[in-house]
Amino acid sequence: MDKDLAGGRRDFGGRDRMCDVICDEPTLLQAMCRFGIPLGVGERSVEEVCTAHGVDAGTFLAVANFLRGGAEAAARWAEGVKVGALMDFLERAHDYFLDFQLPMIRRKLLEAMDCSRRNGVAFLILRFFDEYISEVRAHLGFENGRVFPYVRGLLEGRRAADFNIGTFARGHESVDRKLQELKNIIIKYYAPTDGAAGLSSVLFDIFTCEADLHAHCAVEDALLVPAVERLEREVTEREAAGAEAPPADGTDGPREEKAELSEREREVVGCVVRGMTNKEVAERLFISVNTVLTHRKNISRKLDIHSVSGLTIYAIVNGLVKLEEIDV
Ligand SMILES: [Fe+2]
Ligand SMILES: [Fe+2]
Repeated sequence: MDKDLAGGRRDFGGRDRMCDVICDEPTLLQAMCRFGIPLGVGERSVEEVCTAHGVDAGTFLAVANFLRGGAEAAARWAEGVKVGALMDFLERAHDYFLDFQLPMIRRKLLEAMDCSRRNGVAFLILRFFDEYISEVRAHLGFENGRVFPYVRGLLEGRRAADFNIGTFARGHESVDRKLQELKNIIIKYYAPTDGAAGLSSVLFDIFTCEADLHAHCAVEDALLVPAVERLEREVTEREAAGAEAPPADGTDGPREEKAELSEREREVVGCVVRGMTNKEVAERLFISVNTVLTHRKNISRKLDIHSVSGLTIYAIVNGLVKLEEIDV
């Protein structure tokens, strides 16, 4: 699944550790959330984490590589996109924008500015933002109400006669432009008498939201549209052949998780996080101090954790010790 690129960064691959992928591209934290993948990924690979949460790894990697590498990366990964998995991702993003991110920005604008009619500029900025929310709501509402049901129908083998993804693609515009404008208006024209820190914070949120909405629409153009076009062709061919639809998108079944540490190493971790010295660990496990040191070195290398407090979190999360056994 890895794709090595000559003269450029290697794409993320299924065997990469999820924690490395996130640290390399922190914007993927949002994507993980929208795929329904929680944190606490341990040492597991992208494929293992996706499989554990019923997410199609090929689709996750297509989105991850597109967000980092743009259109060129999308071209390399678009074939592997599962439409159902990508739709789940996009629908969660819609909920996030409408139910969380935009209302949060509005609330922070109200806190940072006196938006009453007395303050003309602030009042107009809020009105501008409210109009913008209405536009986003209409854009996402059309996708929720028209485009996504159409695609779900295709996944079930039905093709509506009065719509196709090409129509959507031709009229699909990014919804972030007005945010650029709002940002510029605030930066250039609003001089706060107080609450400058709050206003800077909400401006930063607007920058983030703008990039997020832009990326969202770009994923729809670069990954959803081509995947749905393929699906349309398949449904048309099946209809022509009179064949049954295949089951909707799925992923491989759950896999056994890889044991990250040996049994002995887990015992050493348990002793260390209970506060035992190397000598005490050696006596408890009937091994030499040198062997304890070797185990500790291997544990640090395998987990990339070098402090006792870090090992303590690992030990609790992985059930090696209970919180009450730790001297905190
Ligand atoms: Fe959308
Ligand atoms: Fe869109």
